[in-house]
Amino acid sequence: MSALKILVIPGSLRSSSLNARLAAAAAYEFAQAGVDVSRISLGDFPLPIYDGDLQSKSGVPKNAINLKRMIGAHHGVLIVTPEYNSSVPPLVKNTIDWVSRVQDEHETRGQVFRERAFAIAAASESRLGGMRSLAALRLILSACHATVIPNQLALSFASAAYDDMDRLKQPADIESLSALVRQLIDVSQRMM
Ligand SMILES: Cc1cc2nc3c(=O)[nH]c(=O)nc-3n(C[C@H](O)[C@H](O)[C@H](O)COP(=O)(O)O)c2cc1C
Repeated sequence: MSALKILVIPGSLRSSSLNARLAAAAAYEFAQAGVDVSRISLGDFPLPIYDGDLQSKSGVPKNAINLKRMIGAHHGVLIVTPEYNSSVPPLVKNTIDWVSRVQDEHETRGQVFRERAFAIAAASESRLGGMRSLAALRLILSACHATVIPNQLALSFASAAYDDMDRLKQPADIESLSALVRQLIDVSQRMM
């Protein structure tokens, strides 16, 4: 069996993004567990806002195809999303919308979602920690027929959540991240 490969995708491009920071902490945990982990920036896959006319005229943009293939090269995916107005930011929704339109040869559309496990996490300054964006993201991924693992992490008061080494401080946060990492590894291995 090949080594387990996990892709971590932060859903923010902001330079001091709380979600990019949580994605980095999660990637560290995957690496500690012996997983071959990659962390990307959606800034490397810029996409226009989805427009059916654009797709009809020019096809799916190369960046959506590349990102879909990047996802397809991993056994499991963790998306770490901000919460905007109680839902996912446009960056996250638009990226999923485009990727869901990619259909490589000998594949059905959306196969990349159906064939691997997804985990979701959020970080926010608020008490709820982006919980509502997680509910929205779970619904979106489920509509794409993805397997979304039950464990998730909504990191509250996120800018105060780390120690000097950029590791989570609170035992409850540490345990939530660890449970999420363990479950994504477990489900991804079973789906390999
Ligand atoms: C348009 C907008 C709407 C927001 N709505 C929410 C919200 O509903 N709940 C929340 O917890 N934070 C909300 N925030 C604050 C973000 O969680 C905060 O800016 C966070 O740092 C963004 O994630 P990032 O640091 O990874 O870029 C909102 C921010 C913006 C710009």
